[in-house]
Amino acid sequence: KAKEKVQWVCSNCGYSAGQWWGVCRSCSVAGTMKEVKFSGTDGMVSGFSVLEDGVGSWLPQQEGEMRPLRLAEVNRGLDIHHWRIPLTGPFGDEVSRVLGGGLVPGSLTLIGGDPGVGKSTLLLQIAAIIAEGQNDGESSPVVYVSGEESVEQIGNRADRLRIESDIYLYSSNDVEDILKKVQYLSPGALIVDSIQTVYLKGLMGSPGGIMQVKECTSALLRFAKKTNIPVLLIGHVTKSGDIAGPRVLEHIVDVVLYMEGEKYSSYRMLRAVKNRFGSTDELGVFEMSHSGLQAVSNASEMFLSEQHLDSEILAGLAVAVIMDGSRTFLIEIQALCLSGSTGTREVNGIPLKRANMIISVLIKQAGLRIQEDAVFLNVVSGWSLTETAGDLAIAAAICSSCLEIPIPNDIAFIGEIGLGGELRMVPRMEKRVYTVAKLGFRMCIVPKVAEKALGTDGFEKMEVVGCRNLKEVINTVF
Ligand code: TYD
Ligand code: MG
Repeated sequence: KAKEKVQWVCSNCGYSAGQWWGVCRSCSVAGTMKEVKFSGTDGMVSGFSVLEDGVGSWLPQQEGEMRPLRLAEVNRGLDIHHWRIPLTGPFGDEVSRVLGGGLVPGSLTLIGGDPGVGKSTLLLQIAAIIAEGQNDGESSPVVYVSGEESVEQIGNRADRLRIESDIYLYSSNDVEDILKKVQYLSPGALIVDSIQTVYLKGLMGSPGGIMQVKECTSALLRFAKKTNIPVLLIGHVTKSGDIAGPRVLEHIVDVVLYMEGEKYSSYRMLRAVKNRFGSTDELGVFEMSHSGLQAVSNASEMFLSEQHLDSEILAGLAVAVIMDGSRTFLIEIQALCLSGSTGTREVNGIPLKRANMIISVLIKQAGLRIQEDAVFLNVVSGWSLTETAGDLAIAAAICSSCLEIPIPNDIAFIGEIGLGGELRMVPRMEKRVYTVAKLGFRMCIVPKVAEKALGTDGFEKMEVVGCRNLKEVINTVF
């Protein structure tokens, strides 16, 4: 039978001692030491949920509360199926994937983003998914605490999102008050909207100030670890690089996600910038609809411009195939060559050095006479190209504009360009080519080495054409 261990814990500050004291040795308040029995194996301190009211258990830790644990002790009784809470909802498994396979119990996740990007919407939807439980039928309530909006406002949003799950709404700014009430409900998750609006009593500074933001986050982290309740925290990013913004919190929390979106686009991206439980190179893609965030069905082609899908095509457009996380996107590159100009180069979404290199290679190795031309380059939809896989599409777009010959809109380009004008292999070639084929393209231009490696299987209707250098590409396409 497991030994029972008795401790005396101050209900005011959480100080614990092996014996009773009339006055707490830590916070000097009288009559607060309460007897607490731990029945964990060999005296293992199993957390403070047994504490009366739970008061003070998330305040800074006192010595003697924890001890080093054996690996076997830590892993004992861990149900592998509950290791992560899957989050599959109207937005597919986007959030789960960005988190590295689901939400980890006892983790603290920070979701940052510009005001109005859709953080509250996303988290209310996540709350609904957790509250409904997944296919194993297990459900638990979720508490959504807002320091920004009234309960009615959150209720209205839930109505709009057609959410009818078991969610508790609470409007409060006092962290101690929040945690006390939440612990009592022992929910499946706690959501706090936002870190800038909550405060800890007895701490200097106003809500949103650096002290408050840091200490409140630490309190929420201790709460998550002790109760095993996952906590999701919203943080606004302010333009002026505000020090009390979520950036200072990145080292405190377990996971940091950023939500991004172009101002006039309904697409929203969720990106992990830190993840103690998974990789950080995953990207979630959503569309903000009238009823919340939804999965994007055409994610691969969402960056192709309208005119590209039209039958009448302009010269100077070429499609590149780029990757972000495990996702493939087709992106349109636009070029405009203006002859008899002064040789200016203006780029948008492409590093200027890379653009200059490609232009020089085209002049020297492919005989394109654009020395005196003004060259404008643009990546559609405000995407920034960081991969060399887009080199070939950039070169093709420039050729197309210079020669004034449009490239048929069912041709895509993949490949890096070397200084000799040769085409080079890029990572994850097969995945890229496969995406292009799936979207019904007729032809995909790749480096010769890639053509051999890929073979011709699996891309039945699409021709995969391997080229050694830029000259071969020009002869094939124009
Ligand atoms: P919100 O989640 O409040 O943003 P944040 O918490 O990041 O400040 O939502 C921002 C915008 O999203 C708001 O302008 C309205 C819009 N929206 C929709 O388009 N559809 C919806 O279903 C909801 C709830 C909001
Ligand atoms: Mg909000």
